[in-house]
Amino acid sequence: MRLQGRSAIITGASSGLGRAMALRFAAEGAAVTVADLDQTPREGGEATIDLVRKEGGQAEFVTCDVSDWSAIDALVAGHVAHHGRLDIMINNAMTTRYSPKPLLETSQEQWQAVLDVNLTGVFFGCKRAVAQMIDQDLVGEVRGRIINLSSQLGIRAAPGNLSYGVSKAGIDYMTRSVARDYAAHNIMVNAIAPGKMLTGKTGPAIAPDVIAFSESRTPWPRLGRPEDIAGAALFLASDDASFIQGETLAVDGGWLAS
Ligand SMILES: NC(=O)c1ccc[n+]([C@@H]2O[C@H](COP(=O)([O-])OP(=O)(O)OC[C@H]3O[C@@H](n4cnc5c(N)ncnc54)[C@H](O)[C@@H]3O)[C@@H](O)[C@H]2O)c1
Repeated sequence: MRLQGRSAIITGASSGLGRAMALRFAAEGAAVTVADLDQTPREGGEATIDLVRKEGGQAEFVTCDVSDWSAIDALVAGHVAHHGRLDIMINNAMTTRYSPKPLLETSQEQWQAVLDVNLTGVFFGCKRAVAQMIDQDLVGEVRGRIINLSSQLGIRAAPGNLSYGVSKAGIDYMTRSVARDYAAHNIMVNAIAPGKMLTGKTGPAIAPDVIAFSESRTPWPRLGRPEDIAGAALFLASDDASFIQGETLAVDGGWLAS
C-alpha cells in the first residue's frame, strides 16, 4: 500500500495506460479520480471505476475535456473539495481523433486539435495542479507530484506523425521547465516516455507496419504492457522517488538506448 492516504487525478484513465495506472494506484491505497471524455475503455471491458470498486478501491469518474480550462479547473476543485488535497496529478490524455500524418498532409485543423489536447491539456493540467499544490502542507518533503505522459516519439522522430511528435517533445520541455520553476515549492514534476505499449486498442496503433517498425526498434524481446507504465508511475508517485526533478523516464524496452 505505497499510496495509502494519497489522492490522485489521472486524465484519460478510461483506457489504456491511464486505466492501468488508475487500477495500480487504487490497489496501492490511493483515492483516484478518473478524468476522461467518457467512461468506455477503448480496448473494451469494464469501466475503470467499476474495476477499482470491485477490488475494494476508491475511484470516481469525472467527465472532462483536458483542452478546456474551465473543465480542468472544475476537475481539480472538485477533487480537492472531496479529498482535501491533490497529491498526484497525472497528465496522460491524448487524442486519437486524427490518423498520423507527415508535414505536407497535416492540415492546420489537425495540428491545432492535436496540440490542443496533447500539449495545451498538459499545460492546463500542470498549471491547475501547481496552483493547488503550492499552498498544500508538505507530506514528507513533497507538496505534490506531477507526472506527464510523454513518448519515445517526442525524443526520436515519429515516422509520419508530425503533430503528435511535436506535442510530446513539448511535454518533455514543459516538464523540465515547470520542474525548474516549482522545485523550490517542493512540487516534484517528472515525465514518463513509454515505448510501444500494447494496450488492447485496435486501429492504426496496431497496424502491421507500426508493429513491425516498433519491434525493429525495441531491443527487449517483447513490446510494452500497460503494467510496465503503471509500475514506473507508481515509483514516481511514491516516497521512493525523492530528489528526481524534471526527468523523463523512458519505459521503452531500450528504444531510446539503441
Ligand atoms: N500506447 C503507446 O504505445 C504509447 C506510447 C508512447 C506514449 N504514449 C502516451 O501514453 C498516454 C496514454 O496512451 P494510451 O495508448 O493509453 O491512449 P488511449 O488512446 O488508449 O487512451 C487515451 C484516453 O484519453 C482520452 N481522451 C482523449 N481526448 C481527451 C480529452 N480531450 N480530454 C480527456 N480525455 C481524453 C480517451 O478517451 C482515452 O480514454 C498518451 O499520452 C500517449 O501519448 C502511449
